[in-house]
Amino acid sequence: MRLSLYHRLSLSLLVVFIVIISVFFVWAEHLEQKTRYESEQNLHLSLAANLARDNPLLQEGAYDHQALKNLFHTLMVLGPAFEFYFVDPNGVILTHSITPSLIKRDRIDLTPLIQLTQNQISLPIYGDDPQHKSRKKIFSAAPVFSGSELIGYLYVIVTGERYETAYNRVDSDRQAELSMVMLVGALVFLFIVMLGIFYYFTRPLRRLNHDMQLLKNAGFDKSALALTSWMPNSSNEVHQLGVAFEEMVNQINEQFTQLQQSDVHRRALLADISHDLRTPLSSLQGYIEMIADKDTTITAQTREKYINIVLKNTLQLKLLIDQIFELTHLEGGQVTLNFETFNLAELLYDIMAKFSLQTHAKNIDISVVPSSSYTQVRSDIAKLERVISNLLENAIRHTRNNGKIVLIIEEINHTQCKLIISDNGTGIKAEELSYIFDTRYRASNAIQDNNKHTGLGLAITKKLLELLKSDIKVKSTLGEGTEFSFNLRRESP
Ligand SMILES: Nc1ncnc2c1ncn2[C@@H]1O[C@H](COP(=O)(O)OP(=O)(O)OP(=O)(O)O)[C@@H](O)[C@H]1O
Ligand SMILES: [Mg+2]
Repeated sequence: MRLSLYHRLSLSLLVVFIVIISVFFVWAEHLEQKTRYESEQNLHLSLAANLARDNPLLQEGAYDHQALKNLFHTLMVLGPAFEFYFVDPNGVILTHSITPSLIKRDRIDLTPLIQLTQNQISLPIYGDDPQHKSRKKIFSAAPVFSGSELIGYLYVIVTGERYETAYNRVDSDRQAELSMVMLVGALVFLFIVMLGIFYYFTRPLRRLNHDMQLLKNAGFDKSALALTSWMPNSSNEVHQLGVAFEEMVNQINEQFTQLQQSDVHRRALLADISHDLRTPLSSLQGYIEMIADKDTTITAQTREKYINIVLKNTLQLKLLIDQIFELTHLEGGQVTLNFETFNLAELLYDIMAKFSLQTHAKNIDISVVPSSSYTQVRSDIAKLERVISNLLENAIRHTRNNGKIVLIIEEINHTQCKLIISDNGTGIKAEELSYIFDTRYRASNAIQDNNKHTGLGLAITKKLLELLKSDIKVKSTLGEGTEFSFNLRRESP
């Protein structure tokens, strides 16, 4: 049988309750007995002393044990609760009021008798029960003297065998009945209360479980489900669990949507790229066929022209394939970074030198500000070079003849510096700015140069900077120019 948490809690508490009730009853019984014995002993404390004092037989020194036995019998008839013993100064029982076969010891320990007669410890004091090997009972005792010589003790068991038998018969019947009624009543009451309390407290847990089952059956898609809304600031652990569960479900759903979107995006990219590849490839095919065709005679000049076109198309294809490869590699996330410390201005001058042909051709004024910067940065130099080259290539392309490009190094604090690549070129329309980092996006200002550019440069740049734990920002005004900027980790000298 599989029990729910609710049932398990109820059963556990029931068991605990039964144990508590039992301990309580045992303890109450013990307390009641102790109180009873204390009052009985207190009541009969001077019984033995009075008997010893008033009885001539004992007054004289109790030499006639048979007469004493007869006296004890008479006294027992009058007080059946008592048991009378006369012991010598060593505790050896000399005579008693009991049937001899019932006597199980021939001597008793005198220590409690001395304690009682000298009022040494608080009541109840227990003495040996001669009718039992180890049992103790409350008693009354008095020393018996002959003249000034101690000849023994009168030892009276106050709650004798008959007393106990009579008491137990009455008491156990009445008490057992009362106990049973009380126990059953209390248990039923507690059980009902417990069921209510547990039902109330386990309700959120059941709701959470229900939600989880619903979600599992819906394939973890929460869109069509009305799930419980949990209290975020509650101190109730189940609510906290519910909030965490809610967040987890939201995250799963978000990631799922993202995955779907990126899948759609990837398909579109693949379709675009196939198209981009097909155009130069079919052009290549056409020209190669013409060069290879033996039937048509072409002049050496035309052949050279065709070969140049083929070469240009091949380079364009290689560029595109390289970019696709780079982007896929970056998106795959298995890129290793090699951080080193270097002078940023030096890197900028190196990259500028690479583009000197283009800048000269357009007579662009390109400079680093401050021109002799000593700012040291810690980054992956190869990746940073790719980033700056992409941005500079764009800037040069979108800057008119005699334009201006500035590479500004700005020190923010001891750990950060900013690189700004600013041009006074065509600028980008405000509504297009948020799309320029998307793969394959080319803004309306894109200069049409026979499909040479595919709109992958900024997407690659952004990915590279993400890997370098930086974020690229863009500001642009149409007709006035564009400014790309990002932070780098500065290394203090
Ligand atoms: N400095 C700039 N000035 C004006 N427009 C820019 C500038 N940089 C980028 N753009 C715009 O953003 C678009 C996206 O740039 P991106 O570098 O991603 O593609 P691309 O340069 O067209 O192609 P690719 O980099 O793949 O050769 C460009 O097509 C262009 O319209
Ligand atoms: Mg580009």
